[in-house]
Amino acid sequence: MRRIFSGIQPTGSLHLGNYFGAVRNWVQLQDQVPECIYCVVDYHAITGGIEPGELARRTRQLAGDLVACGIDPSRSILFVQSHVPEHTELAWVLSAFAAYGDLSRMTQFKDKAERSKHISAGLFTYPVLQAADILLYLADGVPVGDDQSQHLEFTRGIARRFNQLIGVEYFPDVATLLSDGKRIMSLADPDSKMSKSLGDKHYIGLLEPASAVAKKIRSAVTDIGGEATATVSPGVANLLDLLHLCGAADKADELTASALAGELRYGDLKLVVAEQVNALLEPIRERRAQLSDAEVVDILRSGAQRARDIAAATMTRVRGLIGVGPEAL
Ligand code: TRP
Repeated sequence: MRRIFSGIQPTGSLHLGNYFGAVRNWVQLQDQVPECIYCVVDYHAITGGIEPGELARRTRQLAGDLVACGIDPSRSILFVQSHVPEHTELAWVLSAFAAYGDLSRMTQFKDKAERSKHISAGLFTYPVLQAADILLYLADGVPVGDDQSQHLEFTRGIARRFNQLIGVEYFPDVATLLSDGKRIMSLADPDSKMSKSLGDKHYIGLLEPASAVAKKIRSAVTDIGGEATATVSPGVANLLDLLHLCGAADKADELTASALAGELRYGDLKLVVAEQVNALLEPIRERRAQLSDAEVVDILRSGAQRARDIAAATMTRVRGLIGVGPEAL
């Protein structure tokens, strides 16, 4: 693996589900891959509706959170999608290679369309822009959660079709690098994935004060307990998963055994989980508090410059290959 690319939507501040599902993996990959490119995808965000005034704030907030989590701008390229116009330019080119039938089979589109009053054309062609994000950098791999597997398969399909129709092996075959580990579920509804859209009590924001984190964990749905069962309830399993992810595997195994024996007091479990989660979040909160808006804007400016050098070279080549742009005449 020489170069990887990944993107995240600017939903404002990050939560634990984002952290364990993607961001922690991004941070770790910096030690393994020479070139890591991470992008806040604001043009994807507008496909679900626009709240003017909010988007820029959320983009800046998220970028700062990523740095606080350990995305290191001296090693990785961190930038905002709309600052590199080649993303939308390549998306248009690739839309000519994308099949309408494939797009209409995307489960993320079908899910989102079901929940929307206004289904934008952008929501439908969203995977084409995602393919452009990745192929623009000729990335070898893309670290994502398993909900993105279909979009990556689609990206490989577009790359192959482009190469075949143009007659060159230009775009690489991109590998899907799945984050390992279970996905974190909502605290208040452990059958749904942790997400901000469910409401405040469902997620733990990375920047929430320690007392608020402890309170949310204390209120997490478990079950009545006190009875030996073959498996633990989804809520308890989620708390135990959190312990594992925080690096307290021994503790988690011990508590799992006593839960299965019907001997675990959930109050005790919640105390341990709150302690571990806060120990993990404390340094992130501290780093985030040190980071000014001006510093974040600066990081994003130099990130966009570095991204653009790569993106511009790809677009020059793509224009040449399909015969558009002034140099083609
Ligand atoms: N669709 C991705 C998500 O919802 C975000 C994304 C956009 C992305 N472009 C990308 C992820 C490129 C990986 C690579 O999470």
